[in-house]
Amino acid sequence: MARKKIALIGAGMIGGTLAHLAAKKEMGDIVLFDIAEGMPQGKALDLSQCGPVEGFDASITGTNDYADIAGADVIIVTAGVPRKPGMSRDDLLGINLSVMKAVGEGIKAHAPDAFVICITNPLDAMVWALREFSGLPANKVVGMAGVLDSARFATFLAWEFGVSVKDVNAFVLGGHGDTMVPVLSYSTISGIPVHDLAKIKGVDASRLDDIVARTRSGGGEIVGLLKTGSAYYAPATSAIAMAEAYLGDQKRILPCAAYVEGKYGVDGLYVGVPAVIGANGIEDVVEIELSDEEKANLKVSVDAVEELLVACKGLEPSLA
Ligand code: APR
Repeated sequence: MARKKIALIGAGMIGGTLAHLAAKKEMGDIVLFDIAEGMPQGKALDLSQCGPVEGFDASITGTNDYADIAGADVIIVTAGVPRKPGMSRDDLLGINLSVMKAVGEGIKAHAPDAFVICITNPLDAMVWALREFSGLPANKVVGMAGVLDSARFATFLAWEFGVSVKDVNAFVLGGHGDTMVPVLSYSTISGIPVHDLAKIKGVDASRLDDIVARTRSGGGEIVGLLKTGSAYYAPATSAIAMAEAYLGDQKRILPCAAYVEGKYGVDGLYVGVPAVIGANGIEDVVEIELSDEEKANLKVSVDAVEELLVACKGLEPSLA
């Protein structure tokens, strides 16, 4: 059986990290695409030379030609610009929308059967635009945000309770922005609801509120420290988990920016929801019951995503 092919559109910080992870896991052959000439080729060469040391078999090539992504099984998109300190994800909208147009057209022309995972920010608007520009079915285009946001949430909870991150299952809904909805009522530690464990361990409710707030601004905290760009290790590993779920038909339920039609009172938007990922891409969206407060918070988040789509349509008339 031929090896799987993984195309990475954008060979910057996240793209390079994705290539390294995919090669180490021998997920398939890897094509790194970027508009910068020489850079994806240079990174591909550098990464190839990890092979003998790490003992992986994967062909890694760099390119500036979309024709080289032909036949890709999975495409992960990070093309665009990242945030700098003081910027919100939404500030990237204008530049990254035109990047999504070029990328969507490239995918449509050369790899229309791929499962496409978008990471470019502002995520919920960019994944929507990418689907529109690519014309791929909505179940084959998804955004990576929830796996990362819930990993941040889980990290902070593990630190607070002094337990292994392996035992924390943290739940985040909504858009990938400051309005995201970390849901404590569905978050557990070794199956124990977080609120219950907080009572047992004497963790104050205000500490949990602080963790929710820190999760919401988790990306900005890293941007502020890095100063030259945004997070890349955890975003990359999160997208790899989604790619593995698709390639292995794992039926994992992962929080993703998925196309929602009807559930959660959302119609025709990409927004963060628990979704089943298997060989057919996004196979289902799981609608959980929310409290009135959680519903209200989700509505704020969905409204923020909708506002971004209005801005996209204003900038790019073909989307209207
Ligand atoms: N086509 C392909 N690649 C492009 C294009 C384009 N039209 N425009 C820009 N790029 C490339 C850049 O040349 C750069 O190598 O996208 C790459 C982006 O890499 P970085 O600047 O290192 O950004 P990174 O940290 O990888 O983040 C990428 O993911 O999390 C989001 O907010 C983040 O939107 C940003 C994206």
